[in-house]
Amino acid sequence: MSVFELSPALAEKQDITSIIVFGASGDLAKKKTFPALFQLYKSNLLPKHTRIHGYARTDMSREEFEKRVTSNIKGTPALIEAFLSHCNYTHGSYSQGEDFERLKAVITEGEKDMQTEPVEFADENDKAGRLIGNRLRVYYMALPPSAFTMVASNIKAHVYEPDVINHIVIEKPFGFDRDTSKELNMELSRHFKESEIFRTDHYLGKEMVKNIIVLRFANTFYSASWNNKYISNIQITFREPFGTEGRGGYFDSFGIIRDVMQNHLIQVLSILAMEPPKSLDAEDIRDCKAEVLRYIPPVKLEETLLGQYVASEDGTKPGYKDDPTVPKDSNTPTFAALVLHINNDRWRGVPFIMKAGKAVESAKVIVRVQFKDASSKLFPDVSRDELIIRISPTESIYTKNVVKLPGLGNKLAMSALELNYPNVFQDRMIPEPYAALLLDVIGNDHSNFVREDELDEAWRIFTPLLHQIDQGKATLLPYPYGSRGPAGSNEFPTKFGNYKAT
Ligand code: NDP
Ligand code: BG6
Repeated sequence: MSVFELSPALAEKQDITSIIVFGASGDLAKKKTFPALFQLYKSNLLPKHTRIHGYARTDMSREEFEKRVTSNIKGTPALIEAFLSHCNYTHGSYSQGEDFERLKAVITEGEKDMQTEPVEFADENDKAGRLIGNRLRVYYMALPPSAFTMVASNIKAHVYEPDVINHIVIEKPFGFDRDTSKELNMELSRHFKESEIFRTDHYLGKEMVKNIIVLRFANTFYSASWNNKYISNIQITFREPFGTEGRGGYFDSFGIIRDVMQNHLIQVLSILAMEPPKSLDAEDIRDCKAEVLRYIPPVKLEETLLGQYVASEDGTKPGYKDDPTVPKDSNTPTFAALVLHINNDRWRGVPFIMKAGKAVESAKVIVRVQFKDASSKLFPDVSRDELIIRISPTESIYTKNVVKLPGLGNKLAMSALELNYPNVFQDRMIPEPYAALLLDVIGNDHSNFVREDELDEAWRIFTPLLHQIDQGKATLLPYPYGSRGPAGSNEFPTKFGNYKAT
């Protein structure tokens, strides 16, 4: 199924659906997975016959479990009550076969109950064309990666049934570098087929990321100019105004490049840069994304600027190493700017600049496409046109163009045409990425999930640089919490990326 053909009848599906959330006692489950499931339920988008099974080691009462499930959701008491009636919790280990057998018994019992629920048909075609009572099991790994393979192998040994549709959802990080990612994939592929695996990158569920393919291929204006003849450089920037407080332990072994660049930002880049897919089918899109990544050589340390934040200038915000879970000699970057080159005919000579920083002055994730200087000599020295796609915080697309300044005379000005999503589409809801992605998992749409070959290419591009950083070969420049980044970061796109300030 393709990304733009979301079946309106999903809620009418008669499939018997079991969603098993491993790590149900954890942070992701509480903050994202259960709220996303509730959003789908509330919007009548979960299949009619659904059970949600939480599973983790923590021995929780029904009351405690309900508290976790509902702590980040909003709805009427009746709706919440109805949602909870679809949920249950089982505690057990991740290592013992008998615990998974118990879980299987709970799932099977739920499936039997659902089989007795009244079946309604959306229409006669549905009745004629579909097998009623397909069983779908979604295994959602809201777990630390160290537990992925053990749980996957126990699911396969004790829960998996071949006549059931089995989907396994795993969360980033998918490995630590190219080799560990290959190992993880190899291990997973011993138990699950690639078609059963959904590697989540929540950026692929974001509305403005999904919009890039539309913007590029549904508009002549952009499709005609989307190449090195017209585009000078592209910047993908991620800024967060908070540090790693509370997550220092996790973050210190990963760093900003593994945390957001090797996954979220490279995914955005691959959609921005791919060739037109043959169709909107998931495999056609993923073929093109993987293909463009093959033209990118590994990032060079010389074309990188790295930083680590220190306490804010007024002393009110702590430095990265003030976190007790961060080693005092940590050389983990919390800021990085780097250049990617795509050596194909479309993009040769167009630098793609990625910048990402924690504890900087603003919250923003944007794509900035800067066009070349106007070729006409009628207006010398004018600024360059730009297209900006704001992924967050407020979804928007705007262009910066040179216009005549109103009034007598012929002065020029730079002005913007803006499409601000919440203002323009006031009657439309912008879905939460996790809800959109879960719906795709249920609907078996892989378009917005990372395929093994894409992942491997992404690691190939970043692994040599990451190893150099891990070996202490990189210099990290300090920057105060709440600043724009280390010295040189503002000039970086000009120095390495053809960028000209507008
Ligand atoms: P948690 O650390 O909260 O772990 C989830 C659950 O897993 C815990 O409640 C615990 O449950 C179990 N667990 C914890 N440590 C271990 C261990 N060493 N071995 C086995 N089980 C363990 O993780 P998150 O919920 O934050 O994240 C889950 C996954 O999602 C990770 O891969 C993370 O990188 C990813 N992720 C998280 C995001 C977030 O916002 N939290 C955002 C994006 C991705 P119990 O002890 O009860 O079994
Ligand atoms: C996560 C990273 O994957 O993405 C976090 O681990 C980061 O460090 C987050 O804050 C950003 O996601 P979003 O949706 O808030 O832009």
